[in-house]
Amino acid sequence: MKQRVKGSSILRGEITPPGDKSISHRVLILNSIARGRARIENLAPGDDVCATMSCLRALGVEITEEGGTLIISGVGRAGFREPTDVLQAGNSATTMRLLAGLLAAQPFLSIVTGDESLRARPMGRLIHPLRLMGAEIWGRGSDSLAPLAIKGNKLKGIDYHLPVASAQIKSAILIAALFARGNTTVVEPAPSRDHTESLLRAMGVKLHREGTRIKLIPAAPSAPSDVRVPGDISAAACWLVAGAIHPNAQIKVINTGINPTRSGIIDVLLQMGAKLVVERVRRESGELVADLAIESSDLVATQIGGNLIPRLIDELPLIALAGSFARGTTTIVDAQELRVKESDRIATTVRELSRLGVDIEEMPDGMVIHGGGGLAGGECASHHDHRLAMTLGIAALVARGETVINNAEVVAMSYPNFWQDLERLTSGI
Ligand code: S3P
Repeated sequence: MKQRVKGSSILRGEITPPGDKSISHRVLILNSIARGRARIENLAPGDDVCATMSCLRALGVEITEEGGTLIISGVGRAGFREPTDVLQAGNSATTMRLLAGLLAAQPFLSIVTGDESLRARPMGRLIHPLRLMGAEIWGRGSDSLAPLAIKGNKLKGIDYHLPVASAQIKSAILIAALFARGNTTVVEPAPSRDHTESLLRAMGVKLHREGTRIKLIPAAPSAPSDVRVPGDISAAACWLVAGAIHPNAQIKVINTGINPTRSGIIDVLLQMGAKLVVERVRRESGELVADLAIESSDLVATQIGGNLIPRLIDELPLIALAGSFARGTTTIVDAQELRVKESDRIATTVRELSRLGVDIEEMPDGMVIHGGGGLAGGECASHHDHRLAMTLGIAALVARGETVINNAEVVAMSYPNFWQDLERLTSGI
């Protein structure tokens, strides 16, 4: 699908972002391992979370809907059944990697595959620690790529230093550790999103954190956890950046998760001088939630790297766009992980934002953005990457002419109503 977006003279209104994608995957998987019924509200609506749901159903978990509330009937640690077909994770690395942790401990064979993009993403970093735990797991390309074949086994706890800050690998190990003999400790090079840890604790699992070290004592999650999933800060980030860079904007993004391991985008926008106000901070289902008000701002350039990167990894294309409207030169370093996301997000962000008129350079581990130029608009492509498609949509709102975004339907991975919400803001309602 080609999406045409015209530069808009005004951005006004209130947005409720979709439920958080990362939290939704975890709520589904961990409640499946618990025994009993969990009631879930505001689950993320996108294709990625649907992939996790279909895989769990194929493993014998009953997931139904009652008047907008999702009911997960957890089967307990020993209740999963062998899938009769290949499990399809689609575009979703979170589905593949977190489920691999579960499947590694099941007494049956599973094959997990994904779309072309997912089959090109690194899986050696997943296979290695799971094998140390005793898993029998293989992948294409000398055990580096999906499809994965997993023959479940009895696992043992490990002490593992993650070579990269990855919440997906950390979570896969913690999920496998629930089934293992002996304790598991995972050490992160920098803190990554901690939704798995919060939810496991809420479900009665003993998990301790000391600095960057997390220790899990194996146990069945004793209780299912009813959750109201907060709005996704990675979706909200689109509107925060739109509001900050547009000359006539006033937007409120309500009910957004602001977990400190995810809220780097708020820190960076404030550091750049954005008129961003965090309102009504509250705690819902163990996660911090707030309403975020943003309006047109005079931004200044900033430098981004180090431990901040995992706290805003998915927002970096949007931050590059914000940098192009800031006074000065913005640099992003230490972000080489972007090269192995749904697309090579350093290369694709630089290529596509350049097409629209951004003065941006590619670096091995990041980007350099020269601010202050203004955008012309033009034709660009999503590279089948939902976060890039949404960044280009926001860029189009502040461009002078019309912008055409090819393969724009890919937003459905995380935010199916993205184009409708964008339209609504431009009409000022
Ligand atoms: C995610 C973790 C991050 C992030 C991805 C979602 C998660 O990936 O980029 O979009 O839900 O655990 P890594 O684990 O590869 O850092």
